[in-house]
Amino acid sequence: MLWVVAGAAALGFWWREHPSPCPYGLRVWLVLPRPVITWRRLIDILSPREGERMLEIGAGTGYYALRVAERLGKSGRLDALDIQQSMLSHLATRAHERGLGNVVTTVCDAHVLPFEDDSFDGVYLSTVFGEIIDQDLALAEMYRVLRPGGRLVDGECLGDPLMVFPENLRQRATAAGFSFVRRVGVPLAYFALFRKEAGDADEAQGS
Ligand SMILES: C[S@@+](CC[C@H](N)C(=O)[O-])C[C@H]1O[C@@H](n2cnc3c(N)ncnc32)[C@H](O)[C@@H]1O
Repeated sequence: MLWVVAGAAALGFWWREHPSPCPYGLRVWLVLPRPVITWRRLIDILSPREGERMLEIGAGTGYYALRVAERLGKSGRLDALDIQQSMLSHLATRAHERGLGNVVTTVCDAHVLPFEDDSFDGVYLSTVFGEIIDQDLALAEMYRVLRPGGRLVDGECLGDPLMVFPENLRQRATAAGFSFVRRVGVPLAYFALFRKEAGDADEAQGS
């Protein structure tokens, strides 16, 4: 047993040094219970509303996406993005089974988002940020595609070897132009809410 724990810890440390997308073969991890960063907490802090357009980055097999899409309703739309087609095919099947017609899946890399400026009311991601190689570039892209006043939510937890700690996230997000609003959970498992302030869309981009 001790060897298993030591092996898992060693793998975790190695992964932190060599970040990469969670393989589809490990998707069983995505359905394990999440004690703090539950979909209910995400809904609470993100507050998706009927008719809004939202973007999930690194949507995986859809643990959060399906619940958010339900709240956006028929007049809303969820763009679920992931770098792996296998994850999105799984998600699309689940969305179809639930009769959700407002989920649009796109295979792409969070470093270059294929959307117009100011496209979304909200952007969110959970247990993904640490897998992104250039996190500052990805944050700049999230800022660009959010409308002024739009919200960004990031979820992190210690069970993820690539967890990003709260202060690190806060510094990076504010450097990208976001305002910190609040955090729920505990320092080792949390959702943090940021906002792209209305009216300062261009200042943080230096234009
Ligand atoms: C640990 S999984 C989490 C999935 C989902 N957010 C959840 O909580 O169930 C991380 C996901 O982020 C995706 N990902 C990693 N790097 C990415 C990148 N640069 N661009 C887009 N997706 C990425 C992976 O393919 C994987 O599906």
